[in-house]
Amino acid sequence: MSKTRIKYICSTCGYESLRWLGKCPECDNWNTFTEEIIETNNKKVSAYKGTINIKKIDELEGAEKNRIITGIGELDRVLGGGFIPGSVILLGGDPGIGKSTLAMQAASKINHTVLYVTGEESTSQIKTRAARLKIKSDNFYVLSETDLNIIIAAINSLSPSLVIIDSIQTMYRNELDNSPGTITQIRECTSQLMETAKKNNISILIVGHVTKEGFIAGPKVLEHMVDTVIQFEGESHHAFRILRAQKNRFGSTNEIGIFEMHEDGLTEVKNPSEVFLSERDKEISGSAITASIEGTRPILLEVQALVTPSNFGNPQRVATGFDYRRLSILLAVLEKRSGLRLSANNVFLNMAGGVKIDEPAIDLAVCCSIASSLMDKVVNSKTVLIGEVGLGGEVRSVGHIEKRIQEAEKLGFEKVLIPLNNIKGLKVNSSSIKITGVESLTEAINGVIK
Ligand SMILES: Nc1ncnc2c1ncn2[C@@H]1O[C@H](COP(=O)(O)OP(=O)(O)OP(=O)(O)O)[C@@H](O)[C@H]1O
Ligand SMILES: [Mg+2]
Ligand SMILES: [Zn+2]
Repeated sequence: MSKTRIKYICSTCGYESLRWLGKCPECDNWNTFTEEIIETNNKKVSAYKGTINIKKIDELEGAEKNRIITGIGELDRVLGGGFIPGSVILLGGDPGIGKSTLAMQAASKINHTVLYVTGEESTSQIKTRAARLKIKSDNFYVLSETDLNIIIAAINSLSPSLVIIDSIQTMYRNELDNSPGTITQIRECTSQLMETAKKNNISILIVGHVTKEGFIAGPKVLEHMVDTVIQFEGESHHAFRILRAQKNRFGSTNEIGIFEMHEDGLTEVKNPSEVFLSERDKEISGSAITASIEGTRPILLEVQALVTPSNFGNPQRVATGFDYRRLSILLAVLEKRSGLRLSANNVFLNMAGGVKIDEPAIDLAVCCSIASSLMDKVVNSKTVLIGEVGLGGEVRSVGHIEKRIQEAEKLGFEKVLIPLNNIKGLKVNSSSIKITGVESLTEAINGVIK
């Protein structure tokens, strides 16, 4: 006997309730509950009589050596060295950011059979994009379908090594009465795809949209189910795109991949420092260079500040690519510890290139760029500024100092200002870059702004 009931599920966190709720008690979001149909099967369970396969750990075979490499270095690195057979990867990102482009470019580079399943676009739209991206591949198969049973049948008959599902929000299982895009459908489709990936020992890349709030649309539960979650970010008016691993059962989550979007597709940015600094004007006040660590890679970045008098009592503070609260704290430190009058000024802060950084090591550059704009004097353009700024106006030590210095040196900078505490035990002996330790913010400002 099967019974049909109604449940309400929070679309953000997957919390279940028997009645509709305005506010989710689990994640505190409003109006996230949607109605879902639940089928219950009152089947009798009896003791299992089949064979069970238990093995010693030494007898198990790993999948590491069988990783599917795309040859797109920025993608392979974020995945932890390519796709692992038997795993499911969720690729999230805002609408129009380039998810389908990335998936298709990766598919075309792989030397194995790939099945690209599209539920969003017609095959002629896929053909148009493929032509624009100049994709040519003998192993690249396309299926325009949204019924998961048909998709699974296609996987079983084609035996691809990689399957791309674009997107999970369009897929449905016929047995369920819920419409595509509902939490139950997304969850059930994903769980069936997980099963298929394990059973056929293939990789499945699932594309998913992200809502404004930054969650993968549908339940957050999805993120717990899959093996790896990678997120494609960027600002639509910038060509740069950043790929981040949010979760990875088979690799580090620190790595990022940087791409640039062109008419003929995404290209890898292998020398991000050079690219991010290429548009810099060295003679302008309010600009400072810092070295941030993204994943395992150091990246030189330009911090830009613009300080203007506020005529209306209520000064504006705007931060792009940097934490707003952190900016407020640093402004208070600049005012109190370095005596800069900022409370009557508007402050606009920007990370050039559209990147987002939340690393305290860039504090010193943020503070110096603001001071530079306020005084309308240039920060020495051959200097890189590294250090966290404390509430007392002290410059605190940061990690990976050697990597940061080496990157600055590689790009031809002559001087680097680092926290004094980092000087002890420093393992760089360089002749081409001058390393100076600073103790306080005021000392740094006086040293680099002339
Ligand atoms: N003719 C073109 N020239 C340059 N860039 C283009 C062109 N057509 C598309 N693009 C770029 O590709 C992006 C769309 O890429 P894509 O369709 O892969 O994104 P998506 O994340 O899959 O979007 P969706 O959420 O709609 O599925 C556009 O935002 C634009 O940046
Ligand atoms: Mg798409
Ligand atoms: Zn919730």
